[in-house]
Amino acid sequence: MAQITPEMTISSVVDRWPDTARIFARYGLSCASCAISKSETIRAGATGHGGGRVNIEELMRDLNHFADSGKLPDNLPAANATAGMGGMKMRGMAEQKGVKHVIAVMSGKGGVGKSLVAGLLAVGLTRRGFRIGVLDGDITGPSIPRMFGVREKPPVAPDGKSLMPPRSRGGIPVMSMNLLLPDEGEAVIWRGPMVSGAIRQFFSDVQWGELDYLIVDLPPGTSDAPLTVMQALPIDGVVLVTTPQALAAMIVTKAVKLVKQLGGDILGIVENMAYVRMPDGSQNEVFGPSQGLKLVIASNAPLMGKLPIDPEIAHLSDVGQIESYDSPEFEELVNNFLSVAPEKHPQVPVA
Ligand SMILES: Nc1ncnc2c1ncn2[C@@H]1O[C@H](COP(=O)(O)OP(=O)(O)OP(=O)(O)O)[C@@H](O)[C@H]1O
Ligand SMILES: [Mg+2]
Repeated sequence: MAQITPEMTISSVVDRWPDTARIFARYGLSCASCAISKSETIRAGATGHGGGRVNIEELMRDLNHFADSGKLPDNLPAANATAGMGGMKMRGMAEQKGVKHVIAVMSGKGGVGKSLVAGLLAVGLTRRGFRIGVLDGDITGPSIPRMFGVREKPPVAPDGKSLMPPRSRGGIPVMSMNLLLPDEGEAVIWRGPMVSGAIRQFFSDVQWGELDYLIVDLPPGTSDAPLTVMQALPIDGVVLVTTPQALAAMIVTKAVKLVKQLGGDILGIVENMAYVRMPDGSQNEVFGPSQGLKLVIASNAPLMGKLPIDPEIAHLSDVGQIESYDSPEFEELVNNFLSVAPEKHPQVPVA
């Protein structure tokens, strides 16, 4: 007998079989249906979103085949292919902009170093010749502009309709709500629809130019805030950041689930504040032993890097000089990112 029926809610099916998110996504029932609506049945979703065009018999057949055999249908597009998180329309939106890949940095818990990892990826990839931009999707915090020492108000572009992103010392274009506020300390308390509107504009109404990667710093958590941002952008892949504390690690499993529900891919996990380097060269794991292996098992994604607690990091991000940071662990992080990222070689500019 079929395990999955059209009267079951989409979210209950995805909760039980997370990989079915990819099957739903293929039938045009992606993000909105599974992650936001907890009450929508498969039948309601299929008749609503697909404009009645979703072939519910085929959908049910694929879902039950997966529930019975654990095998995804052969002809399913790869999770990071065009029908990934953003869907076809969103991908088109990115290509039109000249932005090749949008990568989001996410964490379950606040304060684990998400903004730092977003910043470091941008710096490391720029050093390797990629064209990078940073979109601060955490509209309540000043982390990104502060870390890069960017304060300039984004000037209006010559077309009079869009904004030019201010650039860091090293030339990285940065866009943040913080740059638009009269006072850096001013907190933004906005509702979801306003946030998605702002984020979408940060993407479409900002002159990013040609980019290999646009790195997006997401708000903390695994709830509405990061979800709102992710749904507003054509995201290709997600980098997850955590610290070794058991609690933080547990929340990561929630984040993994969220990204899966969106039909997306976790590119890798970064374990931040993993240890302190002692004067004798040993590593002191102040936040407890590494959870790396556990995370890899939980997420089925590689451990992309392990960063120590480094006073230099804290100092440089406070004074806006993150672009001067260097360490072997940082190098390794960027190399590992490139080994799993959707684009592995810098574009040689055409003269
Ligand atoms: N490995 C590290 N070594 C030293 N300081 C660090 C390290 N990682 C992060 N920090 C510092 O810890 C603070 C929090 O980091 P960060 O702002 O990147 O976290 P976050 O996850 O983005 O936080 P939020 O949830 O508030 O957005 C910052 O002051 C940062 O400079
Ligand atoms: Mg942050």
